[in-house]
Amino acid sequence: MNENVERILFTEEQLKYRVREMAEEINNYYNGEAVTVISVLKGSVVFAVDLIKQLNMPVSLDFICASSYGSGTISSGKLIIKKDVELEIEGQNILLLEDIIDTGETLHEIIKMLKGRGTKSIATAMMFNKPARRKKAVQADFIGFDIPDEFVVGYGLDYDEQYRNLPYLGVLKRSVYEE
Ligand code: PRP
Repeated sequence: MNENVERILFTEEQLKYRVREMAEEINNYYNGEAVTVISVLKGSVVFAVDLIKQLNMPVSLDFICASSYGSGTISSGKLIIKKDVELEIEGQNILLLEDIIDTGETLHEIIKMLKGRGTKSIATAMMFNKPARRKKAVQADFIGFDIPDEFVVGYGLDYDEQYRNLPYLGVLKRSVYEE
């Protein structure tokens, strides 16, 4: 275990098993219809790589990099797109992949933006869900695990761009981010 990780929430084996289950749910849901998978950079890349290998419908893969900055109590967050999707998504079934949903602001804004481009359907799959911090009700079709409100790293999730490569989900030691 990494020296800066206090404890492991989900082992590599548990994550693998759950991703396999999610892929099965997603395969049943689309029933062979073609899907454009959009991975939200950077955190969801690890999840995306594991998941798409187990999808059995025609799959296109694209990426978006965006952050949302909520504006206080006003409900319309603002989306900053750092890298847009490159594929034509009008008329396509979109499966949006996220590593974690926290306040829900980012996913809410991305869904709104993509819907405006005339997609046929949008579904979401998130590996981790932190319901305690939710500010925006967000469409969550496939959820890997609900997690407590703790500082988690690994399986794509970072602290200061580190730890994304850990194959498990761990709780970061307080001393690391409070020093
Ligand atoms: C994380 C995560 C989501 C977002 C969730 O990305 O991947 O996109 O935050 O937070 P929210 O529900 O409060 O909007 P981050 O901006 O940390 O970028 P990264 O994936 O590159 O680490």
